[in-house]
Amino acid sequence: MTGREAATRLHEAPRSRLLFLQKFLREGRRVASVAPSSQTLARAACRYVDPRQPQSIVELGAGTGAVTASALERCHPWSRLLAIEVDLDFVPILRASCPRALVIHGDAEHLDAHLSWAGFERIDVVISGLALPSLTAQARDAVLDGYHRHATPTAWFSQLTVMPLLFWPFYNRLFHEVRFEWALWNAPPGGVYHCRGLRARSGRSQRERSNA
Ligand SMILES: C[S@@+](CC[C@H](N)C(=O)[O-])C[C@H]1O[C@@H](n2cnc3c(N)ncnc32)[C@H](O)[C@@H]1O
Repeated sequence: MTGREAATRLHEAPRSRLLFLQKFLREGRRVASVAPSSQTLARAACRYVDPRQPQSIVELGAGTGAVTASALERCHPWSRLLAIEVDLDFVPILRASCPRALVIHGDAEHLDAHLSWAGFERIDVVISGLALPSLTAQARDAVLDGYHRHATPTAWFSQLTVMPLLFWPFYNRLFHEVRFEWALWNAPPGGVYHCRGLRARSGRSQRERSNA
C-alpha cells in the first residue's frame, strides 16, 4: 500500500462509518451491516487470496473498500481485482481508497456482463459481502450462474456474514464444500463461509440443457 493510499483510507474511515450507519438505518437489508468490516473480518475474507501467484479476484458488494483494501494488500502484484458495488455513495470512497481495484458501479446480479466487460474470462476467487440468503431467488441464481460460468474448478467463493453459522445449511445446499472461519473481533462478531464446488440447481441444469 502506498503512503497516499493509507492516508486516503484513514481520512475516509469516519465518513465511511457514518455513511454505512445511515444507509443501514434507511435500507438495512441491502447494506446488511451497520459498519464496514473490521480488519479481522476482512483478513478472514481474503484467506484464499494468494500472494504467491497472480489471480483474478472479484468482490461483490465491496462497500467502501474495507475488504478490497485487505485483498489488494495481500494479493500478488500481478493479480487483478474487480470490485462491484451498487451504492452510488459508496463508489467514490471505494475508488479513492482502493485506486488499484477496477471498480464497477453496478448490480452483482449482472455479474456475467460485468466480467465480460472487464475482460475477466476466468475467476480464481470471489469474495462476497452480499446478503446472499436474502436476495430474491432470481437475483441469487444470476450471481451464482455468473460465478459458475467463469470460476476455475478450484475457485473459492468466500462469503462474509455477521450471523455466524446461521446459514450453514443454506450454503451447504449450494456448495459441495463449505468451511467456516470465525472473525470474532468484529462488531457484531462475524465470520466467513469459504465455499467451492457449486452444486447443480434444477433451474441451472434446465438452462444449461436448453443452451446445449
Ligand atoms: C455487508 S456490506 C459489505 C461491504 C464491504 N464488503 C465490507 O465488508 O465492509 C454489503 C454491500 O453490498 C452492497 N450490495 C448489496 N446488494 C448489492 C448488489 N445487488 N450488487 C452490488 N452490491 C450490492 C451494499 O451496498 C453494501 O455495500
